[in-house]
Amino acid sequence: MHCVRKVTENLYWVGANDRRLSLFENIHPIPRGVSYNSYLLLDKQTVLFDTVDWSACRQFLENVEYLLDGRPLDYLVINHMEPDHGASIEEILLRYPKTKIISTEKAFMLMRQFGFHIDGRMEEVQEGDTKSFGKHVVTFVSAPMVHWPEAMVTFDTTNGVLFSADAFGSFGALDGKLFNDEVNFDRDWIDDARRYYTNIVGKYGPHVQALLKKAGGIDIKIICPLHGPVWRTDLGYFLDKYGHWSSYEPEEQGVMIVYATMYGNTESAAGVLAAKLVEKGMTNVVMYDVSNTHVSYLISEAFRLSHIVLASVTYNLGIYPVMHNFLMDMKALNLQKRTVAIMENGSWACKSGTLMREFLENEMKDMNVLEEKLTLNSAMNADNLPDMDALADGIIASMKK
Ligand code: FEO
Repeated sequence: MHCVRKVTENLYWVGANDRRLSLFENIHPIPRGVSYNSYLLLDKQTVLFDTVDWSACRQFLENVEYLLDGRPLDYLVINHMEPDHGASIEEILLRYPKTKIISTEKAFMLMRQFGFHIDGRMEEVQEGDTKSFGKHVVTFVSAPMVHWPEAMVTFDTTNGVLFSADAFGSFGALDGKLFNDEVNFDRDWIDDARRYYTNIVGKYGPHVQALLKKAGGIDIKIICPLHGPVWRTDLGYFLDKYGHWSSYEPEEQGVMIVYATMYGNTESAAGVLAAKLVEKGMTNVVMYDVSNTHVSYLISEAFRLSHIVLASVTYNLGIYPVMHNFLMDMKALNLQKRTVAIMENGSWACKSGTLMREFLENEMKDMNVLEEKLTLNSAMNADNLPDMDALADGIIASMKK
């Protein structure tokens, strides 16, 4: 059965939701599912903007067929070729033999790599090209590395709709509510939107900044992303979030304590630090056990907050492996401009603090590692209290600068 929503005059959401997939890209947990958004414009010519993941193809095809109501599909605009959007391209070509694909040279190259038969079906566009579909005239804007090199966005100059590809997307399936003003985004969606952005596109902040600059020059009224809600009000709210994330500026002053503990002693010390920070007036403190928190959540929180405390046991004379993985992920996603405090533990040959400092200072960009450090030998005791107080004071003092 078809399941569509009207976006604005002549434009419809024809995407689908996936609540069965547990790991997006087979790596990021999506307990709330994900939506694959596709949009159909019914102008003098009919135009489909992107497709969906293969897993959602049946629903998608029913939606398209219903709205076309016997009309041919003239164009398929592909803004992004990653298979969560591009996997159903060939099925569309098979069912609609006159459809032409509009996309970039790189996207066509990728389609061939994925084994699609597209010869004779291509219409290549470049930055700034325009095309009229009747009443609607669109402009194509390249958006390389947001989030693949072939990506573009399409702006409909007639109604101010921006088909933004992965940009402005979010994890989370749509439960009937399509628009941002139909949900409480700041309460129910922002954490998944941040986790989506930071883990999927976080590495490419400068490219997102370039796209935001281009977007600043056009009068956008509606943003139609490829995942999550469509934006038709309060665009500034989400643009501001994107401004922070893509420039690696924290959203909030606050402390994220990430601890690696084997028998609970490092966790206990991390708890003491959290309590001291709160007592000293910094109540925006969150604690995460690195071993049982998926790293995608840790990355998201690291992008949100200004301060990170890394508390790690020493393991095989190195950093605890799961903590090391978190560090490598932060580096891979280009996180920078954070203040970091270090707590180390080791029953003998305590090394993790020195190694974490070296990683932060030598492998990452613009990380301010506080001089104050707490070293524990097996478990915290009263002798550690002065260093613990100094660590808490150092964190608070660094916020006042
Ligand atoms: Fe939602 Fe980069 O694909």
